Amino acid sequence: MRRFENKVCYVTGAGSGIGKATALSFAREGGKVVVCDINEANAKITASEILAMGGEAIAIAVNIGNRDEVENSVIETVKHFGRLDAAVNCAGIAGPVSMKLHEYPDEFWHQQLNVNLTGTWWCMKFQIAQMLKNGGGNIVLLSSAAGLIGQPENSPYAASKHGVVGLTKTAAIEYATDNIRVNSICPTAIETPMIMYGRRKLAENPEALQQAINHQRMKRMGQPQEIADIALWLCSEQSSFITGSSIKADGGALA
Ligand SMILES: NC(=O)c1ccc[n+]([C@@H]2O[C@H](COP(=O)([O-])OP(=O)(O)OC[C@H]3O[C@@H](n4cnc5c(N)ncnc54)[C@H](O)[C@@H]3O)[C@@H](O)[C@H]2O)c1
Repeated sequence: MRRFENKVCYVTGAGSGIGKATALSFAREGGKVVVCDINEANAKITASEILAMGGEAIAIAVNIGNRDEVENSVIETVKHFGRLDAAVNCAGIAGPVSMKLHEYPDEFWHQQLNVNLTGTWWCMKFQIAQMLKNGGGNIVLLSSAAGLIGQPENSPYAASKHGVVGLTKTAAIEYATDNIRVNSICPTAIETPMIMYGRRKLAENPEALQQAINHQRMKRMGQPQEIADIALWLCSEQSSFITGSSIKADGGALA
């Protein structure tokens, strides 16, 4: 039995990395997938890969840092598929610079807080409103190890991801008796474009890459599929007594 047969599964950041792996995993498990990303071309590619495997999907271009676009994406979801059962909110940004707090440019503080924290809050707001109408659902947020401990030279990211952990706990309590569970995942280094080509540019810096690998007790980076597997488990009946948790996925780094 496929775990998400006939379930409507909404994923942000689904054009790349962890979000893409999550969207494809939902499709393999029978879900009807709403593929959301600010990068419309990549969202369409993920959706077409799902259609090619015989699944159901729609692509929606949405900037989660824009309230109206987030609200419209949930309206569009319900118009197309009739309900919303699971939402995995992966869209996020880091950096783009590495600087100590007193030097960090204001503009990037506002950018990261707007996407990672306010955007995630808007996603939850409209997803929960719909889940209350359709009798419940599951929400997973992508926080980070930087939501549990400090991340030097990226204070806005750490602040936003700690905020996501706070939203996880608070929403879990508020909707605990409404059949809505809310959990988050806190990964360390996962091999995606964000870490390979974003702020840390590990793909271009073998020394930094080795450092990132060494920081993991397992002496390897995580793969997007390993995070997608946790996200699907958290959205499934197999985790039915878990809500308000922020699960470390860190190869033992924080142990
Ligand atoms: N890769 C890691 O090591 C790592 C570690 C901890 C946490 N995370 C978190 O996991 C999540 C997914 O990251 P990833 O590594 O897959 O990164 P990624 O860059 O591969 O994918 C992120 C996706 O989000 C999309 N996106 C960015 N801003 C958006 C916006 N405003 N609205 C809608 N979509 C937007 C991008 O277009 C991209 O497709 C992020 O929230 C990130 O902070 C990643």
